[in-house]
Amino acid sequence: MTRRKLVAGNWKMNGSLAALGELDAIVAAADAAPGVDVAVAVPATLIGPAAARVPGVAIGAEDVHERDAGAHTGCISAAMVAEVGASFTIVGHSERRADQGETSQDAWAKAAAAHRQGLNVILCCGETEAERNAGRAERVVQAQIEKSVPDNADGSWFTLAYEPRWAIGTGRTPTLEEIGSIHAIARAKLRMLIGDAADGVRILYGGSVTGENAATILAVDDVDGALVGGASLTAAKFVPIIEAAAGV
Ligand code: 13P
Repeated sequence: MTRRKLVAGNWKMNGSLAALGELDAIVAAADAAPGVDVAVAVPATLIGPAAARVPGVAIGAEDVHERDAGAHTGCISAAMVAEVGASFTIVGHSERRADQGETSQDAWAKAAAAHRQGLNVILCCGETEAERNAGRAERVVQAQIEKSVPDNADGSWFTLAYEPRWAIGTGRTPTLEEIGSIHAIARAKLRMLIGDAADGVRILYGGSVTGENAATILAVDDVDGALVGGASLTAAKFVPIIEAAAGV
């Protein structure tokens, strides 16, 4: 099965209205790469302005609450981000697991909530450095997938992202063999959970992806795109990743 490559940015707690100007060149690069899907997750305050500025690129949220509405001070629902123009959300990012204590069960509930509101979902998984050093990376990722992937997941709305925590923002990446091995294991786990629909689900790699390493990482079997943090903040760094995806 051919899966279109997806290059997704995650601005995390960065950006501003002024920074949205970066999106203009990103849109131009996306237009020049019709075989690649391009998406950018931005802070909640920027979703509306970003979606209005660049209707041609998928703008998303970095998180949503698992409930549709209610007494949850400071939280934002999937319906709210959808209303202002988000077409997708990230859930289960390791920074939310580390900073907010989110679990795989939370990620499952958030993915389901997002899907109820018609959002596409990028669900993150990935081991810590201690887990990898202990030889547990595969088992950790398998368990995260088992607990967080909704039964009705399929490639029409659901994407998985493998982001080893120790590779995020560090400039370090796993070897291509290590990436390929986890992606293959993740695909096999998805197949156990959702059957043939697993073949349509894109699995992104995330963690220190740059314009320099993107082409080789994106050429690995079962790597269907990239989830990019730091290098998504400027067009100068993000566009080469889109171009690399177009060339794979
Ligand atoms: P970096 O690309 O900055 O390592 O971040 C990866 C990430 O966490 C994307 O969600």
